[in-house]
Amino acid sequence: MKFFIDTANLAQIKEANELGILDGVTTNPSLMAKEGIKGEEAIMNHYKTICEIVDGDISAEVLSTTFEEMVEEGKKLAAIHPNIIVKIPMIKDGIKAIKWFSDNGIKTNCTLIFSAGQAILAAKAGATYISPFLGRIDDSGWDGVQLIEEIAEIYSIQGFESEILAASIRNPNHIIRCAKAGADVCTCPLDSILGLLKHPLTDIGLAKFIEDSKKM
Ligand code: G3P
Repeated sequence: MKFFIDTANLAQIKEANELGILDGVTTNPSLMAKEGIKGEEAIMNHYKTICEIVDGDISAEVLSTTFEEMVEEGKKLAAIHPNIIVKIPMIKDGIKAIKWFSDNGIKTNCTLIFSAGQAILAAKAGATYISPFLGRIDDSGWDGVQLIEEIAEIYSIQGFESEILAASIRNPNHIIRCAKAGADVCTCPLDSILGLLKHPLTDIGLAKFIEDSKKM
């Protein structure tokens, strides 16, 4: 399973990258706005900087919602760096745009997936990645990981090639459950990635080893 970090914060991207286990970055308009990135030039430069930090797939989301505009915007985003993945919303024009990008050799990430039906459509259109938002599904009283399992089963039966990119991860347990459910990628906040490191018995064990090492 690949690990992406879900942020536009450069310090957090660098910290995750230095762990040596990072395979890519996902961003969205909310994450970019949180970092105060405003205006086309600043947005383009920010994606370029992320591509220079991480050698992996970097999702950059279109801001438009019509087929023609998404194609134009996506072409500009894809021209920033060969590792850019054009992130397209799960809407009717989005499906048309994903098909256009797929036919023209540009990789895509279909975002805002909340059902197996949406995942089937995105895969049929040729999305490179599809992003089910499991935390938001949990928030609405359903089980987001169950959706990952269902999509993984359907893709396996049907031979769909889109990679399942589990998004809206909220904690380390989500990552573990996604790995078991067959997600190809987890995109996580830095805290959830670092949370995987933690176990009280590791800390107690290490403290004892350090103490005993003084007697060696
Ligand atoms: O990048 C999309 C997704 O990961 C958003 O997560 O926490 O805003 O639901 P969240």
